[in-house]
Amino acid sequence: MQLLQIFSYISLLALPVFAQSSTQPTVKTLNGTYVGTFLPTFNQDFFGGIPYAQPSRRFVPAQSLNERFSEVRQALNYSVGPTGVKPGQGLPVLVWIHGGAYVMGSSDNIRYNGSFNVQRSSPPSIIVLQPMASLSGTNPEKAGLLNLGLKDQRLALHWINENIAAFGGDPSKVTIQGESAGGSSVFQHMLAFGGRNDHLFRSVISESGYWAPLMASNRAATYNATWNRLLSITNCSNIACLQALPLSTFNASVARVGSGAFNPVVDANSDEGTMFMTRGINFDSDLVNVILARNSTDYAFTSAADVQQILQLYPDDPAQGVPIGTGDGILSTGFQDKRSAAFFGDAVMVGPRRAFAQANAKGAATFSYRFNQPPYHFPMDTGATHFAEVAYVFNDRNNNTALPSNQPLGPRVIDAELALLMSSMWISFTHDQTPNNNLVAGAPVWPSYGPSGEQHIVFQGFGSGSFVENDNFREAGIAFINQKTAEVAKAL
Ligand SMILES: *[C@@H]1O[C@H](CO)[C@@H](O)[C@H](O)[C@H]1NC(C)=O
Ligand SMILES: *[C@@H]1O[C@H](CO)[C@@H](O)[C@H](O)[C@H]1NC(C)=O
Ligand SMILES: *[C@@H]1O[C@H](CO)[C@@H](O)[C@H](O)[C@H]1NC(C)=O
Ligand SMILES: *[C@@H]1O[C@H](CO)[C@@H](O)[C@H](O)[C@H]1NC(C)=O
Ligand SMILES: *[C@@H]1O[C@H](CO)[C@@H](O)[C@H](O)[C@H]1NC(C)=O
Ligand SMILES: *[C@@H]1O[C@H](CO)[C@@H](O)[C@H](O)[C@H]1NC(C)=O
Ligand SMILES: *[C@@H]1O[C@H](CO)[C@@H](O)[C@H](O)[C@H]1NC(C)=O
Ligand SMILES: *[C@@H]1O[C@H](CO)[C@@H](O)[C@H](O)[C@H]1NC(C)=O
Repeated sequence: MQLLQIFSYISLLALPVFAQSSTQPTVKTLNGTYVGTFLPTFNQDFFGGIPYAQPSRRFVPAQSLNERFSEVRQALNYSVGPTGVKPGQGLPVLVWIHGGAYVMGSSDNIRYNGSFNVQRSSPPSIIVLQPMASLSGTNPEKAGLLNLGLKDQRLALHWINENIAAFGGDPSKVTIQGESAGGSSVFQHMLAFGGRNDHLFRSVISESGYWAPLMASNRAATYNATWNRLLSITNCSNIACLQALPLSTFNASVARVGSGAFNPVVDANSDEGTMFMTRGINFDSDLVNVILARNSTDYAFTSAADVQQILQLYPDDPAQGVPIGTGDGILSTGFQDKRSAAFFGDAVMVGPRRAFAQANAKGAATFSYRFNQPPYHFPMDTGATHFAEVAYVFNDRNNNTALPSNQPLGPRVIDAELALLMSSMWISFTHDQTPNNNLVAGAPVWPSYGPSGEQHIVFQGFGSGSFVENDNFREAGIAFINQKTAEVAKAL
C-alpha cells in the first residue's frame, strides 16, 4: 500500500498493434521521450511510473510538469529495449482510480492488472492513478489545502488529455472508472466546479462509490475534529510539522486517525453492508445507539422519530437482512447483525447508488448493476461484499493462491464466465458508451435505467446466471434514507 507518496506517477498499457515484436517501446510525450517495457505474454507495451506532476512535498498542491528533456528516460523500473508506438490511432481510453478510503492503496497492486482487459478488447489503454489523502478542517482550508488528492487526480487527467494521443489514445474518448474511494472520486469529478468536466472525460463508471461526507450537516465541527486528532496523534501543531514527519511515522498516524477521516470535503454490491455495518447488534436499543453514533458523518437523521422509522423500515427479520438470500439464519456476531448490515449498506452505498441512478438517468444514458456473486472462498457472513466485483471487472486470471480477501478470480467455471461477461461489458461501455456491444454469446441485454423503468442488471454466476430486475428492493427504507439526505443537502 502506498500512502501520500511524494511523486505522482501514471502507468499505461498500450496496444498489441504498437508492440511490433519490439522489446523497448518508446513514447514521445510533450516533455520528452520515455521508454517502457514489452510484455511478451500479452504482446503489449507497458509504461509504468511516468510522472504527471512536478515532485512536491506532502500537502503541497501538485504542479503541472514544466520541463523539456532530450535524453530518453526510463518509464521508471520498466525499461527493456527499443520500440514502435504509433500515435494518432484514436483509441478509447479507460482511466482507473483505485480505492482505499482515500488513505491507502496503490496502482501497482496485482489486483489492478489491466493486461487481461487490454488483451480482450480491441483494446483501450488502461491507466492507473493514485488517489491521495487530503486534509480537512478550518486551518487547512485557510491554507488552501482542501481536497488535494482530488486535485492531484484532476492534474493527472489533464496530463492524459495532453499526452494520450502519443500512446494511440483519443483524448475525447476517456472514461474514468473507480471503485470505493475511487468510485467516489469519479462522482466528485462529475460534480466538481459545478459539473464542469473540462473535456477531460466523456463517461464514467463508479463502482461502490459514495458521497456520505457530503451529508454531514455539522461538517465544520467534524472536519475540525479530524484535523485536531491528526495533530494530537502526531504531536504536531501545524502543517509544516506534518510535512516533516517521516513517511512511516505519518502513515502509521493516519491509520490511527481512522478510516474515512481523509474523505473529500464536499453502484453497489448486494452485501455492501457487511463491510460498512456495525457488528454485535443484539437488541433494538443497540441498533438505535449505533445509528445515533454514526449520525451526521454517514447520514443525517434530524429526529428520534426518524430513527424509530428506520426500525420499522428495517425490521428484525433475518430473512430480509444482509447478506441477502441467507434465510432465517443469523450471523454469529449478533442476533440483529443482518438487520444492521441491511441498514448501513443502504445508508452508505446502496441508497446513494439508487439516488444517483435516478437523478442521472434524467439527463444521460445510465446503467446500474447489483453485484451478487460471493467470490471464491468468501465466508457466508460477508457475501457479495464491497470490492468483491473488482477481480471480475479486471477479468484477473492470475490464480487465487493468496488469501481470499486478496482475491483475483477463483478457479470455478462461473468465475471465468462472469468475469468475461462483466469485463466485456465494461470494455464495450468504454468503446461505445453502451455495455451491450460486448460480443459475449447469450449475454443478457443491460437496459438503461430511466424513464421507461428503473431496471438494472444483477451479476451472478450461479443459478440461471446474470439477469435484469426492477431496482426496487428495500424500496421504502432506501426512499426514506434518500429523502432525509436530500432534505439535509438542501439545507446546507
Ligand atoms: C510538460 O508536460 C505538461 C503535461 O503534459 C505540459 O502541460 C507542459 O506544457 C509541458 N512543458 C513543456 C516545457 O513542454
Ligand atoms: C523502482 O524500484 C526501486 C527499487 O526496487 C524502488 O525503490 C522504487 O520505489 C521504484 N520506483 C517506482 C516508481 O516504482
Ligand atoms: C498481469 O499479469 C500477468 C500474469 O501474471 C503478467 O504476465 C503481466 O505482465 C501483468 N501485467 C501487468 C501490466 O503488470
Ligand atoms: C473549527 O476550528 C476553527 C479554528 O481552529 C474555529 O475557528 C471554528 O470555530 C471551528 N468550527 C467549528 C464548527 O467547530
Ligand atoms: C507523541 O507523543 C507521545 C507522548 O510523548 C508519544 O508516545 C508518541 O509516540 C508521539 N507520537 C509521535 C507520532 O511521535
Ligand atoms: C502504511 O500503513 C499501512 C497500514 O495502515 C501499511 O499496510 C503500509 O505498508 C504502510 N505504507 C508505508 C509506505 O509505510
Ligand atoms: C444528527 O446530527 C445532526 C447534526 O449534528 C443533529 O442536528 C441531529 O439532531 C442528529 N439527529 C439525531 C436523531 O440525534
Ligand atoms: C491459472 O490456472 C489456469 C488453470 O490451471 C491456467 O490455465 C492459467 O494459465 C493460470 N493463470 C496464470 C496467470 O498463471
